[in-house]
Amino acid sequence: MLPARENSSGRSGRSWLDGALARFEADNNASVAPTNSLLERIVPDPALHARLINTLSMLEHMGSHKIMATQHSAGIDRPTLKHVAEEAQHAWFMKHQAEKCAGREMKYAPGDLLAPASARMYFQRLEALIVRSLGSRRDTDAPYLYMSMVVEFRALWFYRLYEKCLKRAGHAMSLKRLIGEERHHLTDMANRLERSGDLSDARAYRFLDGERQLYLGLLRALQRATA
Ligand SMILES: [Fe+2]
Ligand SMILES: [Fe+2]
Repeated sequence: MLPARENSSGRSGRSWLDGALARFEADNNASVAPTNSLLERIVPDPALHARLINTLSMLEHMGSHKIMATQHSAGIDRPTLKHVAEEAQHAWFMKHQAEKCAGREMKYAPGDLLAPASARMYFQRLEALIVRSLGSRRDTDAPYLYMSMVVEFRALWFYRLYEKCLKRAGHAMSLKRLIGEERHHLTDMANRLERSGDLSDARAYRFLDGERQLYLGLLRALQRATA
């Protein structure tokens, strides 16, 4: 957990993240029912479910690749190396589960994925929004920290809904460890942004609002792909 300490603006780290999580929950409340109904349609169908899990594997892989592509200076620290290792591990875990579900090998190819173009676009547009908005801060760690933090808000929200759906369906797959790691990444990113002095409510909320629009686009694409 984030230690409850004050930053230069007198805000406590723990309460910033708690407040931001509560705001995220409220802002995304309308997406809970359509996300649940999508998951409830997919999970009982092994062929469709395998494609969803493989798509999640691809997104985790893209996440780990983006960290590697941007974080390769001599100053790369232990938390960043741990982060990239865990995202790569999530990609492996999801691939393993997808192949178990499908009973065959799966590639990141259109027939083995769900709404792949929209899934890739989600990441690319989010990154473009963040890099564009950061202006002169784009040459610091701020893009990596903001991009990761915003993605972790969604990962945590989505994986919690998915975990509950798996439980309701009596499915053996457990996301407990993965959820714990995503929660840790979220706390770590918020903490590091705050320490660097780059954490701003206005900026974080603008990125989270932009992400919500991108998630809605991805959700609609997933609905079309499974209709
Ligand atoms: Fe992850
Ligand atoms: Fe993560």
